[in-house]
Amino acid sequence: MDNPNGRKVMDVLEGKKFERPPIWLMRQAGRYLPEYREVRKQAGSFLQVCYNPELAIEVSMQPIRRFGFDASILFSDILVIPDALGREVRFVEGEGPRLEPITADEIGSLVKAYDAEKALKHLKPVLATVEGLRGELPNETTLLGFCGAPWTVATYMIAGRGTPDQAPARLFSYSNPKAFGQLLDLLSDVSADYLIAQLKKGADAVQIFDSWSGVLGEVDFERWCVAPVKRIVDRVRAEIPNAKIIGFPKGAAGLYEDYRQKTGVDALSLDWTITSKFGRLLQSSGAVQGNLDPMRVVAGGDALIEGVDDVLEAFGGGPHIFNLGHGITPQAPLENVELLVKRVRG
Ligand code: CP3
Repeated sequence: MDNPNGRKVMDVLEGKKFERPPIWLMRQAGRYLPEYREVRKQAGSFLQVCYNPELAIEVSMQPIRRFGFDASILFSDILVIPDALGREVRFVEGEGPRLEPITADEIGSLVKAYDAEKALKHLKPVLATVEGLRGELPNETTLLGFCGAPWTVATYMIAGRGTPDQAPARLFSYSNPKAFGQLLDLLSDVSADYLIAQLKKGADAVQIFDSWSGVLGEVDFERWCVAPVKRIVDRVRAEIPNAKIIGFPKGAAGLYEDYRQKTGVDALSLDWTITSKFGRLLQSSGAVQGNLDPMRVVAGGDALIEGVDDVLEAFGGGPHIFNLGHGITPQAPLENVELLVKRVRG
């Protein structure tokens, strides 16, 4: 079962359990690192880093050099997909992403005008990052590609920005179910093509980020999270049968189980609200990743040690990739990240 390169994250995705789990952190390349802030300042804008392979490779490598994580995640953003579809994305300093909110009519035109080749051409620099990164990484480091899940990406396209509970997208889905369904189908297809391209360029596995799963009720979760992600998984596997896929339906609570069974992902990334008992149940049908509260990394000290030990104990009995329950935040002190890595490695 061991993969020939000693990539432990891949072994865990195949169902292997380690005495000490491999570790990486969501958003590990980012603003908590002074060397990232330096590159970001020189580049001018965040998207300029995403679309410049040389800079994107550099910032992807930064956390690997500093902490020796077991996986590297491609440096990019989930919102390069709407950008590639011609729905231009800007990142406003200190405020987050901005897009022109899409209307039902515009969705119709977007679907009609969709040209898969053109979208992938826009994403070429990101694919070049994947290829270049594989060449730079230590052999034993797993390279993860990623995309946003259609629902989560759509919430930004509808509202034009981040919102606390995605009320604009929920409302839109009830008022314009047909157009919303077409948008999610389009996002599923372009995301599947994008993940396939990443895997062909050297990504070992991919993660699908559904950061806003938790705002949906049961029926909507099935319709807007499970079905589109299943469409992506099926399409990727039709092209690359052994593709390894991690799903992260953040906030899905009890629906995590449905998500695992119905989408067919290999592993689940757990947010920090998932209990150890339920997490172990999920782990009985495949690997789990997570799930330390990122605020424990900011707090450090006993709060960090206690959190790490609880996660290790909860999931040590099965296939587990140590991670946070969501991305590391800009205010996380470097010494706390060092402590975290040391504690996990024992
Ligand atoms: O290290 C990594 O994890 C790789 C790169 C990565 C980024 N974003 C870089 C980034 C990944 C995997 C993402 C995913 C992403 N992007 C998600 C899903 C995961 C999650 O955090 O929920 C979402 C919802 C986005 C959309 C997005 N990108 C928002 C809402 C924001 C603004 C909020 C914020 O954290 O600033 C971003 C910006 C962003 N993406 C930054 C980085 C490093 C900060 C931008 C900067 O440097 O100015």
